Amino acid sequence: MKIENLIRENIRDLAPYSSARDEFSGSEGVFLDANENPYGELNRYPDPYQRELKNKIAELKKVDTENLFLGNGSDEVIDIIYRIFAEPQKDEVLIFPPTYGMYEVMANINNVGINKIDLNKNWQIPKWQEIEKQLDTQKLKIIFICSPNNPTGNIMSESRIKTILDSFDGIVVIDEAYIDFADTKSWIHSIHQYKRLIVMQTFSKFWGMAGVRVGMAFAHKEIIHYMNKVKSPYNISILNQREVLKTLNSSIQYEKQLNTLLSEREHLQSELQSIPFVKKVYHSDANFLFIEVENANKIYHSLVKQNIIVRNRHSVVENCLRISIGTPKENRQLIVALKKMK
Ligand SMILES: Cc1ncc(COP(=O)(O)O)c(C=O)c1O
Repeated sequence: MKIENLIRENIRDLAPYSSARDEFSGSEGVFLDANENPYGELNRYPDPYQRELKNKIAELKKVDTENLFLGNGSDEVIDIIYRIFAEPQKDEVLIFPPTYGMYEVMANINNVGINKIDLNKNWQIPKWQEIEKQLDTQKLKIIFICSPNNPTGNIMSESRIKTILDSFDGIVVIDEAYIDFADTKSWIHSIHQYKRLIVMQTFSKFWGMAGVRVGMAFAHKEIIHYMNKVKSPYNISILNQREVLKTLNSSIQYEKQLNTLLSEREHLQSELQSIPFVKKVYHSDANFLFIEVENANKIYHSLVKQNIIVRNRHSVVENCLRISIGTPKENRQLIVALKKMK
């Protein structure tokens, strides 16, 4: 199906807000057009399209800027995807639990029906043929795939994703928030082959900038066009754009940091496996481990008492905890605390 036919009618017809900086984007001049205060250091509105930052990211990711959208965290991107494609009270989306909670929260906020088909026992998405049997795919507008998945930590099968991309006529979102910790390749470069594919990444994980709030979407330029139409005019502040640029231009040794996190992941995995009440440590392609224990609530509270906070996922998967990989010292503290427990 053509992208145009997937867009909500009101969004297709929307006349977006035209900001002063849309009409004139030069950096030199006497600016009397945006009711800004002429005094101060942050008195000017930011570039609404974050051109300088996008050029840098496009270079890094080897994509064109026309295929790139930046959101106030990927959470904003998720919301914008709903608002462009999913008609409230009519359209439906599909998620594969256990997975990232915001897909469902955003469906509820946007009043869009949500279908859930559980991941299988290996935490893999089902085959498209099984999905088709279980629901009315006519109403489906968006499928969210999280890979590596939060909270289970694993990459989703390439061939399963491929069959969804080949068979499903709506929008497929692949959320790659944790892709830098996996040794498989990103789906970014498939956006030209699959015009209804949106790949999301973020500066919150590998880049260590969760506090800055910048998320990325990679997609066909027509989808990016609608994202720009729907977003609020100045969604990424000057400070946020500057911080990301500063990091991308810095000499911080990200590869070294990554290697430390990956070797800590391995180390933590084997330490956890040696603890008697840890029943299973799932394979992880992310910067966290998902583990099954004998009594998740008890362990969680006992760790909190020692000032160590992990994520209790018992309400999502029985007796499971999600543990982020910390510094070597933090990981040691965790292991010492766990080994002391009975
Ligand atoms: C799978 C997944 N997607 C997106 C996000 C949110 O990312 P951001 O900080 O860019 O909003 C998270 C945060 O934990 C996540 O786990």
